[in-house]
Amino acid sequence: MEDDGFTRVWRSKKQRTAGTAAGKGGRKTAPCPSRVDGDATEVEEAMRRANERMEKDGGELLAWTRREMDKALRGRPVAQVLILGNGNFDGALEPGAAQLALALRVAESFPSASLHFQDPQCTAVECDWLRARRVDVRSGQDMQPPQMHNEDAVRLVFFIHNPHGLMEELLSSDWESGGTARSVLLCNDYGGWTADEFEQSIDGRMPATCEFVRQAKIVRLPTYEPFPSAFHHTALIYQPEDVQLQAAVN
Ligand SMILES: C[S@@+](CC[C@H](N)C(=O)[O-])C[C@H]1O[C@@H](n2cnc3c(N)ncnc32)[C@H](O)[C@@H]1O
Repeated sequence: MEDDGFTRVWRSKKQRTAGTAAGKGGRKTAPCPSRVDGDATEVEEAMRRANERMEKDGGELLAWTRREMDKALRGRPVAQVLILGNGNFDGALEPGAAQLALALRVAESFPSASLHFQDPQCTAVECDWLRARRVDVRSGQDMQPPQMHNEDAVRLVFFIHNPHGLMEELLSSDWESGGTARSVLLCNDYGGWTADEFEQSIDGRMPATCEFVRQAKIVRLPTYEPFPSAFHHTALIYQPEDVQLQAAVN
């Protein structure tokens, strides 16, 4: 496996021969990389390197995230940490490795919170790696988070670069229990989006996201120098005061 988590798969001898026979001087086909799942050693190594990089060069992002989350909490306890749509982390250059390193580091500050991970794309090896670290790996695909029984408590949601439709599902999932308003999200930067943009961005509408964002405080993450694309266009989004969100959600 290459460093970036991809394995180069070259054309077979038969294909190469066929290409030559078809015509000399024909266009050469670029080798086609195809992804191969990392094994336990590769997951371990990818996460070791992602953690090392976060530790060595990610101090600013880590400190920023802790400080801003602290403001978002307003002294309230954290009941849950959700990591949703993280993507694979079995190669050190996968954004998921950097994102997971940040999420797990932040979660360490809340040892009494339950820790949940959901991404149907993750492999059995990745799921085992998580379970060995007290993470509840959710097998479902719904965006209904576990209910919060403490009415003062907050949930932190790592939801980086996820599709708008999933965001809408997440934010419309538990209006009745009030957990939506008490979610602090690290997600796409929706700052500056107009009502029309929310209206047009997915086939239907995004009433829950539009309502949540309209009243939210939005602070964009600083650049993560070791791996800028892992956190580009990402922001911390939360309600700065106690609110009752009113969107009509079907
Ligand atoms: C655009 S990718 C983002 C991956 C990664 N966070 C990144 O920045 O590259 C969206 C991710 O959402 C995951 N996903 C799709 N449906 C999901 C669901 N129902 N629950 C959780 N994750 C889901 C996909 O498997 C994929 O890893």
